Amino acid sequence: MTQAQETGMYTQSMDLPDDAAEPRSAGLKAVPQALHPSEAELQAQFDTRIDADGKIEPRDWMPEAYRKTLVRQISQHAHSEIVGMLPEGNWISRAPSLKRKAILIAKVQDEGGHGLYLYSAAETLGTSRDQMLDALHTGRAKYSSIFNYPTLTWADVGVIGWLVDGAAIMNQIPLCRCSYGPYARAMIRVCKEESFHQRQGYEALLVMMQGTAEQKAMVQDAVNRWWWKCLAMFGPPDADSPHSAQGKRFGIKRIGNDELRQKFIDATVPQAQVLGVTLPDPELKWNEERQHHDHGEIDWDEFWATVNGNGPCNKERLATRVKAWNDGQWVRDAALAHARKQQHRALKEAA
Ligand SMILES: [Fe+2]
Ligand SMILES: [Fe+2]
Repeated sequence: MTQAQETGMYTQSMDLPDDAAEPRSAGLKAVPQALHPSEAELQAQFDTRIDADGKIEPRDWMPEAYRKTLVRQISQHAHSEIVGMLPEGNWISRAPSLKRKAILIAKVQDEGGHGLYLYSAAETLGTSRDQMLDALHTGRAKYSSIFNYPTLTWADVGVIGWLVDGAAIMNQIPLCRCSYGPYARAMIRVCKEESFHQRQGYEALLVMMQGTAEQKAMVQDAVNRWWWKCLAMFGPPDADSPHSAQGKRFGIKRIGNDELRQKFIDATVPQAQVLGVTLPDPELKWNEERQHHDHGEIDWDEFWATVNGNGPCNKERLATRVKAWNDGQWVRDAALAHARKQQHRALKEAA
């Protein structure tokens, strides 16, 4: 099986196979799970509920493959949210005005919040946050490869909001109807906030495009650097994804990679026209017969090289995450010490 085929079984760039199937975090405690009886009956009930478009909840029985697929996808999604804070966080101290700084702080903070809802949703499947973070920090877990590219100018911040958050929304809206209740509910709030992210980015670019020739060139340059990477965010073509049927079967993946990518392109072309930028694809044109835009070939070799750790910022992003985790150890220690003290006091008072 080629790597593209293997990876294609997952729904999007936020659900790529991790480097090890099993976490080797032996010392870390998993969330305890309830025992379950007769599997054939339970499997039948599960299938009936999925077929009826019902929701699966944390206490319900579920097949191991469903649980594993969800843990991988939701934890990769959570990792993507918190690693996604880094490229833009880089610009908070350099935002061009107080207004832009306030908006950017709010946006980056939202992404941290998205990470928290998603880690919580994944924990309901029996994997602890410590296990998930350990997988991220030791390089076994994947996150969206889009965050392994650098943010060279202020225009990158606008383009990330417009295109990266825009592509994320396209991927995530169908997840609001996914079969796993906690994930679906988390995605409703996440999508509302993502739509604010997209609009703030687009608005920042509209303002720059009314500015000097240098500002306009800066926007065009950022669009040139991000456009193809954003198209790759939807994952490899469905033809290379023979296993995506399983995601559909489980009610996790509702729409194929190519269809989502096409929807994104069709929605973005008129926005680029209003903005006054050129999308860097000479083959991009309206196809009257298909009623969609045709587009050029995506460089999948470059995509896989970045997924596999050789993108321009992979090492820097991971090192920053690990440092943040280590620097925060005293906060976690203090919170635990405080909780113990409170508990001790409560017990003493009760005695
Ligand atoms: Fe987000
Ligand atoms: Fe966002």
